[in-house]
Amino acid sequence: MQGDIEEILVSREVLNERIRELGKRISQDYAGKDLVLVGVLKGGFVFLADLMREITIPVDMDFISVSSYGNSTKTSGIVRLIKDIDINIAGKHVLIVEDLVDTGLTLKHLKELFNTRGPLSVKICTALDKPSRRKVEIDIDYEGIEIPDKFVIGYGLDYAGKYRNLPDVCTLSPKVYMD
Ligand code: PRP
Repeated sequence: MQGDIEEILVSREVLNERIRELGKRISQDYAGKDLVLVGVLKGGFVFLADLMREITIPVDMDFISVSSYGNSTKTSGIVRLIKDIDINIAGKHVLIVEDLVDTGLTLKHLKELFNTRGPLSVKICTALDKPSRRKVEIDIDYEGIEIPDKFVIGYGLDYAGKYRNLPDVCTLSPKVYMD
């Protein structure tokens, strides 16, 4: 697996430091409020697991599963709902927790979906942001680290289902997808 990595783009140390800051901000901003963290599967589960342990207020959590990439390195633009949340979010504050915002299509779709269910607010937290790739305008309320337009793997992000277990955010060696 190590031979398939081109370079480490964001190290686990840098990620951890940023996640600590985000957890602190979220804990302050939502103090006394009914907060539901919604992790976006599959990639978002690693970030959600780290982020929730840096949040010091009581929170509820759930997962939603969507897919737009399939086995390709390019988004199809179509967001497919695979698994919905179980929690009723009416009257609650929702924070969507993502690993990466690329075109923004996934989050735009999820925000619109959750807003039809009567929440008090729907905000977005992402570990990584690729603003240069944006196709739709989307407000990111809690941003981890901005990255350049490179295909990245690790920290929950995959290529053809693999590499999610790398602890750092890495670029994939072109030889892997040129073969
Ligand atoms: C990735 C990522 C985001 C989405 C971002 O998920 O985890 O959910 O793409 O892209 P966008 O801003 O262009 O919509 P993917 O569809 O690869 O699913 P996965 O997390 O199950 O790998």
